[in-house]
Amino acid sequence: MNPSQSARSTERAGQRVCVFSDHHQACAAAADWIALSVRENTERRGRAVLGLATGATPLPVYSRLIELHRLGRFSTEHVSTYNLDEYYPISPLDPLSYRAYMHLNLFQHLDLPANRTHLLDGTTPEEFVDDHCKQYDRWIEAEGGLDLQLLGIGRNGHIGFNEPTDLGEPRAMALPTRRIPLHPTTRQDAVREFGSIDQVPTHALTLGIQPILAARSILILAFGSSKREAVQAALTGPATSRVPASLLRHSAERVVWMIDDSCAEGWCD
Ligand code: GLP
Repeated sequence: MNPSQSARSTERAGQRVCVFSDHHQACAAAADWIALSVRENTERRGRAVLGLATGATPLPVYSRLIELHRLGRFSTEHVSTYNLDEYYPISPLDPLSYRAYMHLNLFQHLDLPANRTHLLDGTTPEEFVDDHCKQYDRWIEAEGGLDLQLLGIGRNGHIGFNEPTDLGEPRAMALPTRRIPLHPTTRQDAVREFGSIDQVPTHALTLGIQPILAARSILILAFGSSKREAVQAALTGPATSRVPASLLRHSAERVVWMIDDSCAEGWCD
């Protein structure tokens, strides 16, 4: 699949940036990209390992994957999935949990074996959270790593729930999977789902920056004017732990950005 068929393709900070006229086109291209990755990796090594994201951005990607599955053009029989993040604490039965989101919007519609859909567990007792996160990283390593990591981006430049930090670049790039306090901007954005700020969890579990950067291919999606500033900073500003997505340039040759015209306006025209 060549996303440039329906998009302008350019390069920023060594990374390929595909600009689509609208987000539906971008999501269709993203779904085709994921389906191709699954096919190629299944043929090559008998399985495919996907890192998946939540939020509003990837929903049309998941709808398209379900459609491809119904058309007999996409099978997940030999796929394992690892989600990026989960609120903490939260029950998997809570409709606002990412486990519930994934079940509703993707898993239940595909032929994925039940023991191959992995999410960080928001019910892990506090004293075992570190072990749980280390184990999650070990599971991914034991699968041979992520073939493809799908990402969105927060308005503050976060990836997964890796929030802006003053740690500096080298230490931020080594961050493993862990529990983190949510940034005020992230909590504010989550009011959309939770209804009020008091209802938004204060913490989350997130795949670390290190395992994200280690994925063999990274597909990051960003649409609309609300993401413009963060994407512009990530792609045209310095690499800094204050804009976690700017660290993706350290895996530049493996990263593809798919954005829409509205997000690109004024800096990537
Ligand atoms: C949340 C998720 C991120 C996601 C981001 C953007 O904070 N943890 O993984 O990329 O929000 O969400 P949306 O796609 O709804 O804008």
